[in-house]
Amino acid sequence: MDTETIGKEDWEELQRNLEATIPVYDRVNRVATFGQVSRWRRMVRNRLPEEGRILEIGCGPGSFAEDVLGYDLVCLDPIPEMLRVAEERVNSARSGRGDSPATFVHGKAEELPFEDSSFDAVCTLFSFRDWYDKRAGISEALRVLKPGGVFVIVDPAKINRLHGFLGWLWMRTYVSLYARMLYRSETHPWKWLTKTYVSFGTTKDYVRMIREQGFSEVEAKVVFPGMATIWQGRKSN
Ligand SMILES: C[S@@+](CC[C@H](N)C(=O)[O-])C[C@H]1O[C@@H](n2cnc3c(N)ncnc32)[C@H](O)[C@@H]1O
Repeated sequence: MDTETIGKEDWEELQRNLEATIPVYDRVNRVATFGQVSRWRRMVRNRLPEEGRILEIGCGPGSFAEDVLGYDLVCLDPIPEMLRVAEERVNSARSGRGDSPATFVHGKAEELPFEDSSFDAVCTLFSFRDWYDKRAGISEALRVLKPGGVFVIVDPAKINRLHGFLGWLWMRTYVSLYARMLYRSETHPWKWLTKTYVSFGTTKDYVRMIREQGFSEVEAKVVFPGMATIWQGRKSN
């Protein structure tokens, strides 16, 4: 694993561990981020255009998509069980609000099964860190966006070595302890959170990568209290 890629065996093991987080996914995220995760999700929603076709890559159990109001929403994930849980949850929320059902698609960021220039915005929350080829995934996001479309990522990156060490400490102690209590076991799937964080790059690494893959107006913001970064880029007209 490095800042750009995850090897096949590691990625497959990571996927098995992500699937095992489903029953406690939202609870652990809330506790781990001191409730800030909902605010970060809202910040991503606020960066989406007012209407149009939106793609969420790595939708997981639907924690973000559930609160996306309106739009023609498409959610993609490589884990069938994530898609099953997300579809039930998201479409029941959408039907309660009178929104049209979202579409759920099995696939990977690196090979998006969509036509060129077919989305007004692409977003990905707490999933980019898990992509096995980050450059390929960013290029695919650019390909499927319409000109002028926006790409938004949120994930916990590091500002520098000290910040990375503090992030590691927070995951290795506080988050691990909580997960260990929930699973009543030393070996729990949240260990992969720390593993992927250690090899993940800095905020600036991905600003550079998003630019290099062809996006314009690329910017990044470290959000309070410093545990996550939001990156944004635009496909030129
Ligand atoms: C931690 S969950 C994120 C769930 C949700 N987006 C949220 O807001 O909490 C990460 C998701 O990314 C997915 N994922 C991992 N690798 C991926 C890839 N290469 N392409 C697309 N999704 C991927 C996983 O299957 C998992 O469901």
